[in-house]
Amino acid sequence: MAQTANDITEFLQQRRSTIISKLGASDLPKDDIETILACGVRVPDHAVLGPWKIMVIQGDSRHQLGQEILRPEFAAQNPDATEEGLLFEEQRFCRAGAIFAVLSTPKEHPKIPIWEMELSAGAVAMNITTAAQALGYGAQWVTEWYSYNDKMLAALGGRVGTDKIAGFIYVGEKSEAPKERRRPERENVIGFYEPSVS
Ligand SMILES: Cc1cc2nc3c(=O)[nH]c(=O)nc-3n(C[C@H](O)[C@H](O)[C@H](O)COP(=O)(O)O)c2cc1C
Repeated sequence: MAQTANDITEFLQQRRSTIISKLGASDLPKDDIETILACGVRVPDHAVLGPWKIMVIQGDSRHQLGQEILRPEFAAQNPDATEEGLLFEEQRFCRAGAIFAVLSTPKEHPKIPIWEMELSAGAVAMNITTAAQALGYGAQWVTEWYSYNDKMLAALGGRVGTDKIAGFIYVGEKSEAPKERRRPERENVIGFYEPSVS
C-alpha cells in the first residue's frame, strides 16, 4: 500500500461542494451521467441487497416534476405562498444540469439491520457527489423540504412508509469556484483509542 499521498487522496482532502446557485443548468453529456452512475452504485452494501435506488432528473423532467409535485406540495404546505415563491419551487430542479435523487429502499433481511442499509444509501449519495466533482462539475447534496414529502417519494418510485429520500445531488457547470468552508475541529471528531490501564 502506498504510504505517500496520491492524486486521489489529494483530491479527497480538497474537494468541496458548490452551492446550487453557482451551478449552470446545461444538460450533462450522457457519458458523464453514466460515469457518475457507475461510481454511485459501487459502494459497500452488506449482503448485496442493493438497498437504494438512484433516479436521474434531467431535461424536461426537471420542470415537469416541479409542476407536478414541487409547486402543488409547497402550495399545500404554505397557503400564504406568493406567486413568486411558487414559481421558484416549480423551477427548483431547473437550477442544475442533472439531479440525482438517492432513495434508501431497505429490504427484509433476517440479519442485516436497516441502519446498515441506510448507511449504504448515504455512501451512494457521497459517491455520486464525489464522482461529479472529480469530473470537474460543481455538485451539492441537499435534502431541502421535498426530501421529506411523501408525494415526491412516490413520484420517484419510493414506497411511502418504508423508503426514504437520502437526498438530491445537483450537478452542473460551476459559475465560480467554491470558497473553503468551516470544518469541525479535528480534536472534536477524531480520537485514537488507547486501552485504559487496569
Ligand atoms: C444528508 C445531507 C443533507 C443536506 N441538506 C442540505 C440542504 O438541504 N441545504 C443545504 O444548504 N445544505 C445541505 N447539506 C450540506 C451541503 O450539501 C454540504 O454538506 C456542504 O455544502 C459542504 O459540503 P462539502 O464538504 O462537499 O464542501 C446537506 C448535507 C447532507 C449530508
